[in-house]
Amino acid sequence: MLFKLSSAVFLSQLVALAGAQTISGQYDCVPAGSYTLCQNLWGKSSGVGSESSTLNSASGNTVSWSTTYNWANNPNNVKSYPNVESTSAKGAQLSRISSAPTSWSWNYNSQSSGLRADVSYDIWLGTASSGNPASTASSYEIMIWLSGLGGIQPVGSQIQSGISLAGHTWNLWSGPNSNWKVLSFVSASGDITSFNADLKVFFDYIVANQGVASSQYVQSIQAGTEPFTGNATLSTSSYSVAINSA
Ligand SMILES: *[C@@H]1O[C@H](CO)[C@@H](O)[C@H](O)[C@H]1NC(C)=O
Repeated sequence: MLFKLSSAVFLSQLVALAGAQTISGQYDCVPAGSYTLCQNLWGKSSGVGSESSTLNSASGNTVSWSTTYNWANNPNNVKSYPNVESTSAKGAQLSRISSAPTSWSWNYNSQSSGLRADVSYDIWLGTASSGNPASTASSYEIMIWLSGLGGIQPVGSQIQSGISLAGHTWNLWSGPNSNWKVLSFVSASGDITSFNADLKVFFDYIVANQGVASSQYVQSIQAGTEPFTGNATLSTSSYSVAINSA
């Protein structure tokens, strides 16, 4: 009886281990339920280091994952953007979005002193209904920084402060990148480790105040972290996003 109990416990641990998948290559991705988890070490050559990312679980529209990295050199250069990208929350025109609920709970399990990294959404807009992030199809990159450690800054310059949206206060940065414009909402009150919001309020804001056409389409919603330098393990215990259209 005792033996049977312990082997049952052992079996369930094995199943849990088999459920977690770790990727470590520069552009490795793994399907993660309604998302794709990708390493995206696009800025690797500006530094020295390594990173791996683990899918812990995916159930319904919710995903849990983590990333562990150590990066050195060129403290103003982003080394990577490990992220989950929704496979379903995309293809909607801003004018037709009735709501875009999202929820993100995250924490650092460990972090080196002086860590330079953000925790951020990266939302890609364009004139066509579909297009890859950071591509010729991109018109806007909308970032929402839930954290920015170590004095790092978004692209461009700060154009506004003290914007109240989704129950938090934000500073807005703007600047060009390649063929698209970057608009970054940066938390003005430190880390937001449990974020629950309707992304529509950010979309409505940029249409009303930043000249973004409501005919733009959401081509992609990603959620991840941009390490510049330092070592950390960042865990997302729970993340979800959806787009509901009118
Ligand atoms: C990060 O980890 C590397 C490899 O373990 C180590 O050499 C380095 O000192 C660490 N950096 C920081 C800032 O802790």
